[in-house]
Amino acid sequence: MYYIGIDLGTSSLKLLLVDDEGKVINEYSKEYPLIFPQNGWSEQDPNEWWNAVLEGVPELIKDIDKSKVAGIGSGGQMHGLVALDNNDAVIRNAILWNDGRTQKEVDYLNNEIGKETLSKYTANIAFAGFTAPKILWMRNNEKDKFDRIAKIMLPKDYINYKLTGVHCCDYSDASGMLLLDVEHKCWSKEMLDICGISEAQMPKLFESYEAVGTLLPEIADKLGLPKDVKVVAGAGDNAAAAVGTGVVGNGGCNISLGTSGTIFISSDKFGVDPSNGLHAFAHADGNYHLMGCMLSAASCNKWFAEDILGNGNFAELQKDITDDKLGNNRVYFLPYLMGERSPINDVDARGAFIGLSLDTTRSDMVQAVLEGVSFAIRDSFEVAKSIGVKIERSMICGGGSKSPLWQKMIANVLGIPLDLPVTEQGPGYGGAMLAMVACGKYPTVIDAAKDLIKVKATVMPDKDITERYEKKYQLFKQIYPTNKAMFKELAK
Ligand code: XUL
Repeated sequence: MYYIGIDLGTSSLKLLLVDDEGKVINEYSKEYPLIFPQNGWSEQDPNEWWNAVLEGVPELIKDIDKSKVAGIGSGGQMHGLVALDNNDAVIRNAILWNDGRTQKEVDYLNNEIGKETLSKYTANIAFAGFTAPKILWMRNNEKDKFDRIAKIMLPKDYINYKLTGVHCCDYSDASGMLLLDVEHKCWSKEMLDICGISEAQMPKLFESYEAVGTLLPEIADKLGLPKDVKVVAGAGDNAAAAVGTGVVGNGGCNISLGTSGTIFISSDKFGVDPSNGLHAFAHADGNYHLMGCMLSAASCNKWFAEDILGNGNFAELQKDITDDKLGNNRVYFLPYLMGERSPINDVDARGAFIGLSLDTTRSDMVQAVLEGVSFAIRDSFEVAKSIGVKIERSMICGGGSKSPLWQKMIANVLGIPLDLPVTEQGPGYGGAMLAMVACGKYPTVIDAAKDLIKVKATVMPDKDITERYEKKYQLFKQIYPTNKAMFKELAK
């Protein structure tokens, strides 16, 4: 049998075709545009996602016996608000996870409703990218559109809806809406009231590995697939990536270097970070996790290389950054190109180079960008340590993790070994694994991970480089607080 994994990312859709042995047989990817209507705002047209699926799936399966496709599972960019009217048409562009327009609503939720109350209802506090502040923003700024909302969905749920006709959502992705009572896995009545919406407007909840239905007959025909293909609820892309790197059950860690950068810690018990710096969400294996999320990770490198230097050859740009240079750079970079979520929660923060001089080279600046992202991941790593979470090693995945240099930097900035999975397309692979569970190939997600996930190499930290980076990190830590007030002014 075959399984299709969908990774509904921010810059592109990536599809994987996986066989019964877990081998990736074919891949497909298609970029779609991001829309920035104002500084710090970020949107996408859900029709672009769906068109990419309609185009990509037939291409993905063109060389196989299509009757053998058993299931589809997706991992999707989290938190995005997809609002449908009562004909199930999209009311406006989706407002994405890295959109920073909702500061007023975030302040209302965190200060007037109060962080403690939010945390009691949902296990989390408000961040600009979360879905609930966006619903409030629509109520405050687009009342006519808000009044037309019949269903609220997350990005991958829109795709699952188009595939099956079922309004569904899984617990891992629903956790990031600030509308789910994460501990008890149900919609929070109180939060729905605060946002002025009803449970009837919310999708039905499932575990990530449960089938929500089968393909609609007309969609099966369009895609060239059998009508009995099962579609699973799927997961938020970070939970799906954790499944796809075997970070399930208790105490595993995965670092994802995609458009965003995340550190994901799996747990078999529900737990909340008392400082609310890390998100407390449900996991796709039926358990829970803590997660720190930075809004711009691999996107910093892509932006600097492609948009600023006009050179998309990352390996070429990184080739002069030899081991002796690691921990010896005088240039620092703040990676807050879209504001920042974990742990500083500041929509006004912006990127910056510090320490430039006439002898600074292009290579020093490329290095600073990669290091700035690594240090910002360390910030969330430190929060985890401060609440007693022991991270002794981590998996790493995502586009940025293909760079051996970046792997080495992160291993040394964190001072831990990093394990590289054989399949580095975490979310898509995790999606396919969830489909395997729903189709009965494995009894649980943990069983699937035990059987399928293999480590191909480990990057060990080096004592000297780690020591040098420790000193650099202590300095990096001071740059944002020193400039915080200025970022506020800049935002005015
Ligand atoms: C996680 C988050 C991002 C997106 C990226 O909270 O906002 O990692 O899921 O797709």
